[in-house]
Amino acid sequence: MQDLSKIRVIAHRGASGYAPENTLAAFALAAKQGARAIECDAKLTRDGQVVLIHDDRLDRTTSGRGSVKKFDLSAIRKLDAGSWFGPRFAGERVATLKEGLALWAETGLFPQIEIKPCFGRAAETGAAVATLTARAWPRSLPRPVFSSFAQRSLAAAREVAPELPRAWLTERLPLDWKRRLERLDCAALHCSHKYLTAAKAKKVKDAGFALRCYTVNDAARAKELLSWGVDAVFTDYPDRILAAL
Ligand code: G3P
Ligand code: MG
Repeated sequence: MQDLSKIRVIAHRGASGYAPENTLAAFALAAKQGARAIECDAKLTRDGQVVLIHDDRLDRTTSGRGSVKKFDLSAIRKLDAGSWFGPRFAGERVATLKEGLALWAETGLFPQIEIKPCFGRAAETGAAVATLTARAWPRSLPRPVFSSFAQRSLAAAREVAPELPRAWLTERLPLDWKRRLERLDCAALHCSHKYLTAAKAKKVKDAGFALRCYTVNDAARAKELLSWGVDAVFTDYPDRILAAL
């Protein structure tokens, strides 16, 4: 397995252009398409288990209704997380972080785990994700990278597993981006490609941070960003971007 510093294409929520996002099917497909890293979104169930799901609510990506944080893992596992995307994915379950870690280790996919807390659970989610990852991820493999928009989640992850690298996520770069990265001992900045300019990218790189951009589904745009010094792009179509590079 390669370290993230050498990888240019990260499958966003798995190969989510082709399979239901954040499911084991989407991660397995990313590996099949030749991706060497995936991004996923991790949050807590009511009973404190870590599941891979993007939205605070179950509605868009499962057969359930309501907030993820109001249901125990056992109830969430009964839901269908594939049919909304297409009939051939019927029966796909909401994956747990533990299942994800096992699959990624087995298929050689480097995990970039986004800590995505439900409202009011930032620290708790960061601590749970970091604890589980530190315990379950094989020590012989490169260390996973955590990211979050929630600074409290990153702080909690650092407290539990200071050795696991962190990235701060922001849509646009605020004026004090460097101070924020330094405060959380982050090695990388992850931002939307939409508001990034070549000049801003240069500033981040000159300051010594890794820089990765979401969500880039256009190959020409991916090439442009990489030419600015961006280290990697998150994409829903890893096959497309890999073929173009
Ligand atoms: O981690 C990059 C990207 O996934 C952040 O935004 O909303 O797609 O989780 P979002
Ligand atoms: Mg994400």
